[in-house]
Amino acid sequence: MDEAPVSLVNVHKRFGALTVLDGVSFDIPKGQTTAIIGPSGTGKSVLLKHIVGLIRPDEGEVRVFGTNMANAPEKAVYAVRKRLGMLFQDGALFDSLSTGENIEFPLRQHHPELSAAERRDRVDEALEMVELPGLYDRPTPALSGGQRKRVGLARAIITRPELILFDEPNSGLDPMTSDAIDALIGHLKETLHVTFVVITHDIVGTINVADHIAMLYQGKLVAWGTRDEVTHADHPIVRRFLGRNLVLPSPDDPRPAALPRID
Ligand SMILES: Nc1ncnc2c1ncn2[C@@H]1O[C@H](COP(=O)(O)OP(=O)(O)OP(=O)(O)O)[C@@H](O)[C@H]1O
Ligand SMILES: [Mg+2]
Repeated sequence: MDEAPVSLVNVHKRFGALTVLDGVSFDIPKGQTTAIIGPSGTGKSVLLKHIVGLIRPDEGEVRVFGTNMANAPEKAVYAVRKRLGMLFQDGALFDSLSTGENIEFPLRQHHPELSAAERRDRVDEALEMVELPGLYDRPTPALSGGQRKRVGLARAIITRPELILFDEPNSGLDPMTSDAIDALIGHLKETLHVTFVVITHDIVGTINVADHIAMLYQGKLVAWGTRDEVTHADHPIVRRFLGRNLVLPSPDDPRPAALPRID
């Protein structure tokens, strides 16, 4: 099997008295989609920020393309970032830049060999891909929540990265926009053959796009495996978390059905 682009080994992270990650280890398989699930506040976003080198672990290794982000010098961290794209949970757009300039930002940072016209073509293409054609000059503060999310998505893929990290791509979106984002992820998965890591609360949507699922609970990895392995796991926490959201697929129909939400 190909070497895993991301390998977490015994990762520990505390903020003051709060232990957020408590010895997390797993490999993210190359060319596949891994979903990270788990209750709110359980360290999912913190885990992703370790992968991009924005947070360093107190203990353990975070190997990304062979570089240990735990102790890599800034230059090596930068070289890793050039090969990945990230959509932050809150969008993390620069309000002082226009919509197009936000998407263009990683290209300026990592691809100085491209001319201004080449950059503009790439951005226009990305805007079309996320169904916001012609919005290059739109001031970022004027975007709606769903539009911001899509701009974040375009920025995450603009450098054609090998590894794409999406933190809650569907949260806060109406069902139609959310479905459009799922369809876009499916399309990217098929056309780009990249490695995806997606954090999500949207269990049903996730089950459809994920090859592997990692579940975090109270700083520990409580389930890790293929989609089938995890959806059939009998770990009580996994069952409790999935049970509210899923009807297990029958052997004849591998697609899970949604249960009405009871909260
Ligand atoms: N920079 C920080 N300093 C202090 N505490 C932090 C920091 N970043 C995260 N935390 C805390 O770490 C815990 C895990 O946060 P994280 O954002 O990873 O949760 P999450 O699993 O992504 O939750 P959600 O599903 O709500 O997005 C939370 O209690 C959060 O307040
Ligand atoms: Mg989060």
